[in-house]
Amino acid sequence: MRDFPPFRDLRGFLDWCDGTGQLAEIDTPVATTHQMTAVHRQVLEAGGPVLRFTQPVLDGGNCADMPVITNLFGTTARVCAGLGIKEERLSELGEFLAALRAPTPPDGLRDALSRWPMLKAALATRPKVTKSAPSQEVVLEGAEVDLGQIPVQTHWPSDAGPLVTWPVVITRPMDAEPDALNRYNAGVYRAQVLDHSRMIMRWLPHRGGAAHHRSWQQQGEKMPVAIALGCDPSTLLAAALPLPETVSELTFAGALSGTRPRFAKAKTLPLMVPADAEMVIEGWVSPDATAPEGPFGDHTGYYNAAEPFPVMEVTAITHRRDPLYLSTFTGRPPDEPAIIGEVFNKLALPTIRAQIPEVHDLWLPPAACSYRMAVVSINKRYPGQARRVMMALWGMLPQFSYTKMVIVVDEDIDPANWDDIAWALATRMDPSRDVMMLENTPMDYLDFASPQPGLAGKMGIDATNKVGAETTRDWGEVMQTAPEDAAFAADLLSRLMPELNS
Ligand SMILES: Cc1cc2nc3c(=O)[nH]c(=O)nc-3n(C[C@H](O)[C@H](O)[C@H](O)COP(=O)(O)O)c2cc1C
Repeated sequence: MRDFPPFRDLRGFLDWCDGTGQLAEIDTPVATTHQMTAVHRQVLEAGGPVLRFTQPVLDGGNCADMPVITNLFGTTARVCAGLGIKEERLSELGEFLAALRAPTPPDGLRDALSRWPMLKAALATRPKVTKSAPSQEVVLEGAEVDLGQIPVQTHWPSDAGPLVTWPVVITRPMDAEPDALNRYNAGVYRAQVLDHSRMIMRWLPHRGGAAHHRSWQQQGEKMPVAIALGCDPSTLLAAALPLPETVSELTFAGALSGTRPRFAKAKTLPLMVPADAEMVIEGWVSPDATAPEGPFGDHTGYYNAAEPFPVMEVTAITHRRDPLYLSTFTGRPPDEPAIIGEVFNKLALPTIRAQIPEVHDLWLPPAACSYRMAVVSINKRYPGQARRVMMALWGMLPQFSYTKMVIVVDEDIDPANWDDIAWALATRMDPSRDVMMLENTPMDYLDFASPQPGLAGKMGIDATNKVGAETTRDWGEVMQTAPEDAAFAADLLSRLMPELNS
């Protein structure tokens, strides 16, 4: 099932990256404030390797005791390796995910489940509980707790302070027992460091972590929270993946990674924590205490305004004897979340097709923040179909709630190719007939271009060939060179002008 060896932990994955020439060590001192992001950005834009900064310089001028790892998922190939499969097999895993969502899988989806029997079985296995967790080799409690010793980056010039960007935030709902790992939620929610023992939990209201917090809040209770830092690649990706609510990210990560996931009892909380992480921060989130979070540079390419979010009081920091600190930045694409998003969009295609079967392919341009714009190609058969597809995307699939613009094209157009899109818009679309405008629809509050916070317009552009009552005109016929003539030309030119193909 896996195309890669199992990666039990982050360092196992880093060894594989090293062995395949995808790890670079930076021994020069680099400041965690601003400088590290500047280096990371240039490497990411060049499609470069994972970076291991061995001398991260803290704000006081001292070097931290632990290296910083960045750019882990800086290429789509590494994201796929993190999932354990080759890029060309993404659609198979996507079909498996679609099958998990379907209450009674149609035949095609049942087939998808049957092709991944081990993964299905793994989802039912209980994780292993260990008493000797590497993530708890060193335990710091009480006065020993000092978040300032972790080389947390401050990324952008106007950022409010240091920001933990790759936390896997682990919670359970109030009515679940501490050992009910299948009820746990794991999500990646950035965490601002306020001082030596307090952090801000920025789970957006619709996230799993926020829902769990509400369950404790309703009883007036504080919630135990563990932040696992430097997890294995499948846990990191499962925590960032929008999985069906019935599937726990932690169980799914174990199934993906090809190893039975190991957990240990937290030292100061009624919670289980990943045994093979590099570090774990344990603490309590009160039902009502909040603090203004931000401003921070975000994936839109702008700073967010400060907003109140819950505060976590840290009770313990546990880590390996020689921990690594995993970090990244968010900013105007490309950033790592945008690259991960490209892979996740391919995984989502079978789920989208299960709802809207005429969808052939779909692209969310990373440059448009990975969700604000969508280009979808369809197998068009009847008039008005493009508008139906737009409305289905917006109405049936929550991930498109904040997609401001949907462009629908025909199957012969590659939705991920701007030249193809421009040609379809220029030749198959009339602005007075083919643009659909909606008002007062939901929008993420980060979009300051919306007339009202959280409420905005949407635009659908039908750039498909018009059929039936959609037009009274003779429609154009696409020109094509006959395959035998193209083959003749290729053969002739390879002999006469070989430099053309070199
Ligand atoms: C690097 C990175 C940073 C993220 N930061 C946040 C964040 O600050 N707040 C948030 O709600 N989601 C954030 N996300 C997105 C969530 O992790 C993602 O939507 C995940 O599926 C949420 O899990 P949940 O559905 O279990 O809540 C981030 C994702 C990544 C990869």
